[in-house]
Amino acid sequence: MAAHESTCVPKSRFGKWMDVRLPIGRLVHDQLVDFPTPRNLNYLWTFGSILSFFLMLQILTGIVLAMHYQPSAADAFDSVVRIDRDVNFGWLLRPLHAVGASMFFLAVYIHIFRGLYYGSYKAPREILWIIGVLIFVAMMAAAFLGYSLPWGQMSFWAVTVITNLFSSLDDVIPGLGTTVVQWLWGGYSVTGVTLNRFFSLHYLLPFVIVGLVGLHIWALHVVGQNNPTGVDIKTKSDAVTFYPYATSKDAVGIFGFMILFLWFVFFLPDYLGHADNYIPADPLVTPPHIVPEWYFLPYYAILRAIPSKLFGVIAIFSSLGVLLFVPWLDTSLVRSTKYRPFYKWFFWLLVLSCLALGYLGSKPADGAYVIWARVFTAYYFAHFLIVLPLMGLIERPKRVPGSITEDVLGPEGTAGAAATGKKG
Ligand code: HEM
Repeated sequence: MAAHESTCVPKSRFGKWMDVRLPIGRLVHDQLVDFPTPRNLNYLWTFGSILSFFLMLQILTGIVLAMHYQPSAADAFDSVVRIDRDVNFGWLLRPLHAVGASMFFLAVYIHIFRGLYYGSYKAPREILWIIGVLIFVAMMAAAFLGYSLPWGQMSFWAVTVITNLFSSLDDVIPGLGTTVVQWLWGGYSVTGVTLNRFFSLHYLLPFVIVGLVGLHIWALHVVGQNNPTGVDIKTKSDAVTFYPYATSKDAVGIFGFMILFLWFVFFLPDYLGHADNYIPADPLVTPPHIVPEWYFLPYYAILRAIPSKLFGVIAIFSSLGVLLFVPWLDTSLVRSTKYRPFYKWFFWLLVLSCLALGYLGSKPADGAYVIWARVFTAYYFAHFLIVLPLMGLIERPKRVPGSITEDVLGPEGTAGAAATGKKG
């Protein structure tokens, strides 16, 4: 898997026997014990493990929830109420899964912006990044499908609004959009048939994500981890072993994030959801203000910023699609934004634009809200298509440390480490 030499020496007779047949022990040792990890990683590098933790938690809690959930229009809402009230520990299981989804997105947004800040998408990590974008899209699909399952008012109307977006394809080829929407619904409107297929796909997608995460980590272990300086590992003193150094730091990261997560689970389990989803789905009553979950709000703002439905949908897909090209749009020779004095400001402007779009997505689509949504949408695209390519050409970066060791110990420490040949 990785480009570093194996140091695994099986000791037991069984270990030796297995090693020539199915070397799982060697794989674990080389990838999770002895793997060279940059010694200067900060806590932002614990988010990959935090995400892996949430992926497992979502699957485990989801499997148990599915044992009690009824995917039919008549029973779905009541079955969820029964989980909350009657099922053993159901009161805990449901918030773990629902709040877990929110925390999963919070963690993935931090993970993505970490990658953007430190240039982790730049060569040779392009494939790793692209797989990440695919994971993100799959996560969005899984979350959207999952939100439909309680079959409350917001579930029902979110499904109606979002699936209806495909009807804009009628503007391209008359009849195409209507056909696609009816195919998605499994009928002429959103019904229990739609709910049933959404449940099936919601159960399936997390396993697709597991497969993609496997590829993501494989790609990561072939090229090695980036780090805050963006300089590759060159000597032994630049790296520490994955176990116990990275594993213990990851454990601290996971526990820290758990405090926030469990605080919501135990004290504010419904805070991140919408009160209208405690009203059973009613196709005859439209809620006054249909909003998606908080993690989709920036995309909702982009959609509504554009007057044409078709172009709104194209803009949403483009906002995700542009991420696939980031490795080639960034022309800078320096990876880490730490050494890019001008680009740094634009990076934070991008963060501000995404937060602003999130806020605007929660507001009604009229007046100044729409104008501002257009401004920030324009900046979002300009950032990737204009700022990123141009900045790399015109900006003069600061001096980048010669090595990771120099970044950590300074020039004198580097000389010392080289003289003793010490590791870590
Ligand atoms: C289920 C979701 C995901 C999981 C479980 C996951 C897991 C991981 C893990 C374990 C690492 C190594 C530790 C770390 O650098 O934090 C990593 C690194 C990375 N991930 Fe993800 N990831 C996910 C989603 C994404 C997404 C959505 C993107 C980008 C769009 C992405 C881009 C990257 C990049 C570029 C790295 C290399 C970072 C570096 O070495 O500096 N990941 N991921």
